[in-house]
Amino acid sequence: MIRFAIILLFATLTATASPPRERISINENWRFTKGDPTNNTASLLYDVRQQQTIRRLAEAEADGNSSTNDSGASRESTNQPPAVLKPWILPTGNDFIKDPSRRFARPGGNPGDGVTYVQPDFDDSSWRQINLPHDWAIEGPFTHSGGGGMGRLPSDGIGWYRKHLDIPATDAGKSLFLDVDGAMSYATVWLNGQLVGGWPYGYASWRVDLTPYAKPGGQNVLVIRLDNPPNSSRWYPGAGIYRNVWLVKTQPVHVAQWGTTLTTPEVSLQRTAVNLKVTVANDSKLAANVSVATEIFALNTSGQKTGPAIANFLPTNLQIPPGTSDVASSSTTITNPKLWGPPPTQYPNRYVAVTTMSQAGKVVDTFETPFGIRSVNIDPDKGVFVNGERIELKGVCNHHDLGALGAAFNERAAQRQLELLQAMGCNALRTSHNSPAPEFLELADQMGFLVMDEAFDVWVRQKTPLDFHLIFSDWHEQDLRAQIRRDRNHPSVIFWSIGNEVSEQFTFANGAVVAKELDAIAHDEDPTRPTTTAMNWAQPTNPFTATVDVIGLNYQGAGIRQAPGRYPEFHEQLPGKLIIGSETASALSSRGEYIFPVTGSNSAAVGPDSGEDRARHQVNAYELYSAPFGSSPDRVFASQEKNPYVGGEFVWTGWDYLGEPTPFDTSRSSYSGIIDLAGFKKDRFYLYQAHWRPDFPMAHIVPHWTWPERAGQVTPVHIFTSGDEAELFLNGKSLGRKTKGPFEYRLRWDDVVYQPDTLKVIAYKNGKAWATDEVKTAGKPARLKLEPDRGTIDADGKDLSFVTVTVTDKHGVTAPRADNRIHFTIEGPGAIVATDNGDPTSFESFQSHDRKAFNGLCLVIVRGEPRRPGKIKLTARADGLEAGTTLIKTIE
Ligand code: GAL
Repeated sequence: MIRFAIILLFATLTATASPPRERISINENWRFTKGDPTNNTASLLYDVRQQQTIRRLAEAEADGNSSTNDSGASRESTNQPPAVLKPWILPTGNDFIKDPSRRFARPGGNPGDGVTYVQPDFDDSSWRQINLPHDWAIEGPFTHSGGGGMGRLPSDGIGWYRKHLDIPATDAGKSLFLDVDGAMSYATVWLNGQLVGGWPYGYASWRVDLTPYAKPGGQNVLVIRLDNPPNSSRWYPGAGIYRNVWLVKTQPVHVAQWGTTLTTPEVSLQRTAVNLKVTVANDSKLAANVSVATEIFALNTSGQKTGPAIANFLPTNLQIPPGTSDVASSSTTITNPKLWGPPPTQYPNRYVAVTTMSQAGKVVDTFETPFGIRSVNIDPDKGVFVNGERIELKGVCNHHDLGALGAAFNERAAQRQLELLQAMGCNALRTSHNSPAPEFLELADQMGFLVMDEAFDVWVRQKTPLDFHLIFSDWHEQDLRAQIRRDRNHPSVIFWSIGNEVSEQFTFANGAVVAKELDAIAHDEDPTRPTTTAMNWAQPTNPFTATVDVIGLNYQGAGIRQAPGRYPEFHEQLPGKLIIGSETASALSSRGEYIFPVTGSNSAAVGPDSGEDRARHQVNAYELYSAPFGSSPDRVFASQEKNPYVGGEFVWTGWDYLGEPTPFDTSRSSYSGIIDLAGFKKDRFYLYQAHWRPDFPMAHIVPHWTWPERAGQVTPVHIFTSGDEAELFLNGKSLGRKTKGPFEYRLRWDDVVYQPDTLKVIAYKNGKAWATDEVKTAGKPARLKLEPDRGTIDADGKDLSFVTVTVTDKHGVTAPRADNRIHFTIEGPGAIVATDNGDPTSFESFQSHDRKAFNGLCLVIVRGEPRRPGKIKLTARADGLEAGTTLIKTIE
């Protein structure tokens, strides 16, 4: 008893001597190099990768270089089993393996001992200095060889990162953690020459405990090796430490990683019960007696606390034995809560729970959990209800890349993506096909999007030779539990998707076994949200289909299964399950490319004589063409409206993305986006806006009206409008007034004979004038116009201004087919981070300051220098054109 008291006193003294939690960004000042050291003798293979090993061996032999530095390959050639890192890495995921008997013990030894790059005294001064987030592949060069699936950029290979970390003497006795939001991929971490751990899945967020290897009171050397396989993805994965990285300092007794769970079981405008669970880890060698208390504050739109606490949870006491963790559970109520919900009918109000943990009356940890109060109900006959209101999911799927910035996460770039989508009327996002950056969900919370948070594209059965199937059996539990623990307090997240079009659909009952295991993990981590999986093949009777709560159908409503689609069949056979269009459309187009003749149908599969410009590798922007298994937006709208029990759709895709350039594999980026890779709206944007924002007055004319070679030829005109009727005028002469019929989403004048000058539309709604649009024939390109999306940005080295550069004629009319080569220069405290033009066939480097306009437009992404506020002047010049400039102010 006395001994226990002394131990407690000691634990208390150690704890109170230091400040509570610190979370420090360590993104700056890393050194980076590609490839392993040439004199490397030790194997740093994470695990055996059959195909890659063979490929590297073959390459080495072709080079006449038998002493390859990939020791796995050398060993294979001598028929010895290769040494692998897996046993040292696996313990990193132990907290996410439920069954203690299945957790891993770290073997003895220290892999990396003989590797120069791992050693603390290695001189890395000749390595490149970089800041994170970093994507080594986005700099290119693009390659013309091989397939286009992974974006034709050099994402495969080995990358090393080193950072000198100052750990002050006052950190002695603290727990020190490295939190990596995402590293692509197969990460291994050393501190001061000692292997700490790692994580293979490039989309996971993970933590390693640096405490045992840290040397407070001086420089510590942190080393991370990544090993990104080729043929590992169906899209551009990016490469490198492409998300934020943090050093977290706590007391040995602290709130565990993602240690809070907040739920709101009963939501009403009068009173809402809030339940909170706080997991406390005691990493000390002593028992700990802690008290956990939490207060709730309202957050304003910029995420700041406002006013005094509006509710509090009474303190809970825990006695935690050393080396274990325990959970403090408590409840409170909030009266007259402001609910979180999607605009435009609801508002994304948010709160934060501030947890304070004390030992002997002294605060030893504080932990903030932002959250929102909302109810989500799923009705198989009526759809998704948020706070009692039916919300049709007007969603899009997106991959994680940010166009010209690659996979390197940038909050402003992600925010811009979401802003444009919201302006279109989009209210839901699917994180296809993996866990997103944490800040992405923060943005979704702030802006009021509903999110399908997806985990995997692949389970046991591969889609590409070196994809996630290689590690599924070792890591699926850790990856899925980690994702759900990280994301479960976000009000935006409404579904957990356990997979996309996995090949386990084809193995019926066997596939269902895997699905059930993942479904059970999701429910175990979060009993409050339904699971789904996106199915392009499984039928209602397939045992796989019924394993999840919500039936996600890819292209089965309209597209892959011909009219009338399979929604009714699924609804009839699985009446207790909600159906959603988890992936729809896969419509394809290149911004500003119009190819004649235009199909008379309302949806056509793209092909040699259907929507394709085979010489230029572009796809018709009349927005009627799709992948063979997909369908036009119009056809999807009809199938959704005819089956109102379907909860909504997630369009493939909101934005163009790097890789998967169907139908022209020779290109660099996709054609499926509603918005192109540079962020310019395709015509399709207006087709969705017209349908998704019926109360927003708008009309949009397709195509442009600069066709000198088409004088006298039939040039169809289509109108996308939120009105129900429209009248079209060519040079003031009416071409007739048309009304949308049932299940029609555009108005078509398919026999207009082209003559230049002015095309104008007046749209009507309920008989009243509603919106207009006008296009004019442009003269010769004459000028460059520069328009920043924001004229003032933060001087923090992160914030960005996206500048649209338009080629116009001398009257300021956009020259819609201009392809002038433009040169950009910048003056003042800023830099050009990247340029693009949205052309999927462009192989110009994203870093280039020279770029051809694509159909009249170019994009320049500008960043301010950190801590140097001032004025940045961006100038664009092109031969024969009047130059243009713009000023961007940066502020602190
Ligand atoms: C879907 C798939 C997506 C993407 C899309 C291309 O079947 O789920 O990841 O490949 O097709 O249109």
